[in-house]
Amino acid sequence: MSDYLLEAAYLLASVLFIVGLKGLSSPETARRGMNFAAAGMFVAVVGTLLRREIVSYEWIIVGFIIGSLIGGAMAIFMPMTAMPQRIALSHSFGALAATMVGIVKYHEHFPNFDTGLMVALGFEILFGSLTITGSLMAFSKLQELIKAAPITYRFQNVSNIAMFFCAVGFYIFLIFKPDLSWLFFGLVALGLVLGVLMVLPIGGADMPVVLALLNSYAGLASAATGFAIDNKVLIIAGALDGASGFFLSIMMSRSMNRSFLNVLFGAVGAVKTESGKAEEKTVIRYTVEDVKFILDNAQSVIIVPGYGMAVAQAQHLVYEVANMLIQRGVKVRFAIHPVAGRMPGHMNVLLAEANVPYDLLCEPGQINDDFQNTDVVLVVGANDVVNPAARYKKDSPLYGMPILDVDKARTVVFFKRSLNPGFANEDNELFYDQKTMMVLGDAKTSLTSLAQLLKAESGAKPALAGA
Ligand code: TAP
Repeated sequence: MSDYLLEAAYLLASVLFIVGLKGLSSPETARRGMNFAAAGMFVAVVGTLLRREIVSYEWIIVGFIIGSLIGGAMAIFMPMTAMPQRIALSHSFGALAATMVGIVKYHEHFPNFDTGLMVALGFEILFGSLTITGSLMAFSKLQELIKAAPITYRFQNVSNIAMFFCAVGFYIFLIFKPDLSWLFFGLVALGLVLGVLMVLPIGGADMPVVLALLNSYAGLASAATGFAIDNKVLIIAGALDGASGFFLSIMMSRSMNRSFLNVLFGAVGAVKTESGKAEEKTVIRYTVEDVKFILDNAQSVIIVPGYGMAVAQAQHLVYEVANMLIQRGVKVRFAIHPVAGRMPGHMNVLLAEANVPYDLLCEPGQINDDFQNTDVVLVVGANDVVNPAARYKKDSPLYGMPILDVDKARTVVFFKRSLNPGFANEDNELFYDQKTMMVLGDAKTSLTSLAQLLKAESGAKPALAGA
């Protein structure tokens, strides 16, 4: 392929990546955005495969087959609830590729390096190696292969920061003394150890923020690879990845009302050891028959999904119930809190999987004023995102987090298994409110019964709203 054609292919791929990223900013355009980005990757890969420098395709084909088998198996067999783990593995593979390219380039140029190349190579292997082990640690915590709770010890932050500066020292020294290969491989080793140590003190539930940050590191390592091998599309894609991952991690920290540094160094997100005051108080247990009775008289219903809906895999049933209510003429909407679940867009992805039309989905700013005029709110496995303690309880980890104002509705129904608190380990006073109906049990089981009751009465098969 001529150089001009190759540059044109890379330019097209870069434009497709940018348009794809823009599409991901809204659930309505996200699918299209993904298709653009995938097309961009296809153009970039084909362009690269046709480069004149390639002398033989054998090893490329071997790599292609192995990569496709691993990628295909992950896509087919890993469930939606394991998406954060899948992303962690992908980051680790991407970073491994960047680090290996860095090592090969080092050998290729040894011992004559120009400064620019060494700046790029050092950056690539430091961030690459850190991301390999950091992502594997994140995967292991999320998959509960190792303890998900923060693992802490004395002087942890000090020793981690000291090690990071030591790595930066190696990096700077390497730029001036590139032929010292022990420095080069020492930097790789330091990066690998740093990746493990940095993720140790972070709790399993905070992993999504860490993943977004590791995504950013993997992107920066790829951009540096682009400089090292003079590949413009890699520079652009890596920079896009690096910047978007960084902003995402900051936005997620903000939505959780936590400082970014607190997530990284605070050793929070601990698995709870006691469940607050919840068990000391009592609530009246309601049945799905009671809920059905309340719904019979409702004109407006808002559904608030949360992490428990993902655990129970109840999204299809939630939509089935919503549809039957819509068929009865009830105004039904979904209120989606930005940090509901355990990863950005978690609820949007699950509801999209159940084919819930986008126009039924509302963000807090769009729907919060409507709760006061709503007859029934169905809270399906959500807790922190509706906890009123966020408004006034200053010592609560939730304090200051904007919540969904479900307590303003006429009746609030909670579908959850117990009175246990959510991720923030903060008791929810709303469970004990007179307007609240606690339906205790697995969300899928409760909603299956509710759907059957509604179906039995209507005697009709629900048609899909928006279909
Ligand atoms: P949570 O506050 O974590 O509450 C989830 C509730 O689901 C739990 O109280 C649990 O109660 C219930 N549950 C679990 N399994 C269930 C099942 N099978 N059936 C029914 N209920 C079930 O969830 P949320 O309201 O979605 O809030 C998310 C929290 O995670 C926030 O604090 C947020 O800051 C944090 N967080 C979010 C993210 C992102 S990016 N989304 C990332 C990290 C952390 P039972 O055990 O009683 O059933």
